[in-house]
Amino acid sequence: MPLVTAEFMRDWGKYTHGSPLYAELAEVVAEDPELLRVMNRIGHLPPPNLMFGAVQSMLMDGSDGDLATHYRSIVDDPAPPHGVGPKFRSFVLAHEEEIVEMGNTRYTQTNECRRCVALLPMVSMAEFRAFHLIDVGTSAGLNLGLDRYGYRYGDQEWNPGGEPLLLAESRGVAPELVEVEVLSRTGLDLNPIDPADESDRRWLDALIWPEHVERRARLRSALDMVASLDIDFVAGDALETLPNAMDGLPIGDPAVVMSSFTLNQFDAAQRDRLDSIVSGARSARPIHRVSMGELLDESDGWADLVVDDGNGALTVGRAHPHGEWIELYR
Ligand SMILES: C[S@@+](CC[C@H](N)C(=O)[O-])C[C@H]1O[C@@H](n2cnc3c(N)ncnc32)[C@H](O)[C@@H]1O
Repeated sequence: MPLVTAEFMRDWGKYTHGSPLYAELAEVVAEDPELLRVMNRIGHLPPPNLMFGAVQSMLMDGSDGDLATHYRSIVDDPAPPHGVGPKFRSFVLAHEEEIVEMGNTRYTQTNECRRCVALLPMVSMAEFRAFHLIDVGTSAGLNLGLDRYGYRYGDQEWNPGGEPLLLAESRGVAPELVEVEVLSRTGLDLNPIDPADESDRRWLDALIWPEHVERRARLRSALDMVASLDIDFVAGDALETLPNAMDGLPIGDPAVVMSSFTLNQFDAAQRDRLDSIVSGARSARPIHRVSMGELLDESDGWADLVVDDGNGALTVGRAHPHGEWIELYR
């Protein structure tokens, strides 16, 4: 039984908030056995994100003006989604091999810098102000620039001149934000994305829903900023690369180990292994661990915010998965 069925596509279509085009395309694919067949040739998960991302990436690259007229990411005043079906179908069937190739070599590595509106307050809870920053599952390293963005939570600002400016609603206790000094930045990922590489940048861009204009502008601005930072990207399984990354830091220097929307891809044994690597490394330095969205219950629609200074994990709040709001408990 193939993974992607008409029912699978209709379920997927329920989560296309803010994208009338993808809601329509989910229905188009659900009703078309040929499009379902192509989608099932994509082994990486989830296939719809990869197929739609591949198509959008190719359109951004200049392929097929007719289908592109429906994409807000490409034209300012897009044609309505109704009627897109036949154009999408002929585009996919004409470019099947390229789409399948992209879907089987790229990954869903969405990198949302606005998550820093939750990560920065958690980093500010550390007992130290200067630290080495290690990001587990870094994608393009956008969260490693958390000290460079501008922040605004209602009336409260932090580094207001920073670009891009990240706006969030604060629903709970006001975040206590302090000046921080990032001594070094290390990004661990199975497949790091180069923020300066045109094709990598386009892929991240293509993973964003076509109508999400603000997210796209934020992504492009954050990629420009992060490309100017000195980041040590390390490719490989973080369970293999984290011990070396920690050992390479000067003994005694504090470190922050951060992760967001990554450990939800780990099983229980892998999570335990990560915990024991961090615990073992505490003999060489103080470590403040922060995580966001690692216990996400999809049905809740928020991300848990958890810190751990070595005295046990503490849930300090929750946040919108893309940082539209945060709610700190303390
Ligand atoms: C959904 S992205 C989140 C990126 C970023 N943390 C954020 O919040 O925007 C998850 C990232 O984790 C990476 N990843 C998954 N398993 C990993 C592992 N075992 N070791 C290193 N990176 C991993 C993926 O390649 C992907 O780039």
